[in-house]
Amino acid sequence: MPLYKEIVCNENAKLYLWKITEEIEFFKHAVLLKDVSQKRVDAMKSESHQKGFLAVRMLLQHVGYTDFDLYYDAFGKPHLSDGKCISISHSHTFSAIAISDQPIGLDVEQVKEKVLKIASRFMDVSHLENLSDAEKMKKATVIWGIKESIFKIKNETGISFPKHIFEEEFNLESKKTIAQLQFNAKTENFNVVFDSVEEYIYVCAFEVDPNFLQ
Ligand SMILES: CC(C)(COP(=O)(O)OP(=O)(O)OC[C@H]1O[C@@H](n2cnc3c(N)ncnc32)[C@H](O)[C@@H]1OP(=O)(O)O)[C@@H](O)C(=O)NCCC(=O)NCCS
Repeated sequence: MPLYKEIVCNENAKLYLWKITEEIEFFKHAVLLKDVSQKRVDAMKSESHQKGFLAVRMLLQHVGYTDFDLYYDAFGKPHLSDGKCISISHSHTFSAIAISDQPIGLDVEQVKEKVLKIASRFMDVSHLENLSDAEKMKKATVIWGIKESIFKIKNETGISFPKHIFEEEFNLESKKTIAQLQFNAKTENFNVVFDSVEEYIYVCAFEVDPNFLQ
């Protein structure tokens, strides 16, 4: 399947999802890679990882970039050569990129029962009270995604999901919330949007400019 969905996250950020249904040969013919990326693909043991990586390049090509416009810093965080901000995520059959003028974090996760087994290790489980099991699973996945997305923006050693990132209480129906990073004696605020796509959740986080806080 070509591009699966384009989603407007806010006035200057867009999210692009690719649903991977193609054979690996399709991607190999359609994507032009720089040497370092080709080496990365060749070193991947599983074909599904290769497809996930190549589908990200298909999305880049869809929005007018190529693999040559993307580079990684020493932490593995991706950047675009024209200075726009990008975040990347893949989960099984979906690959996704989010592009924005401002720092952005993206996470795509499959909703699985396992998230409830580990919830107390990364979140305030009181935020799951009075929900059905299915809703608990979904909400815990959103909260995991919020923490991953904020981590991807800040990319700082020592950030702990349970100790430093806090989501404001929210309803799944609202499809948005706010969250805070309290780390290194500083508090930073983030706007968050999320939604479901098939049995997956996507979450996008954006830094809130402290000058615009009410
Ligand atoms: C790096 C990390 C954010 C990746 O998230 P993930 O859910 O495993 O995988 P995703 O598919 O969503 O994201 C992978 C993409 O994130 C990007 N990425 C990797 N390291 C990154 C970093 N330090 N900062 C921002 N983005 C990063 C890359 O683009 C990568 O894909 P690519 O290499 O194919 O381009 C994650 O592994 C991590 O380290 N999380 C924090 C760890 C943590 O505190 N866990 C807590 C438990 S309580």
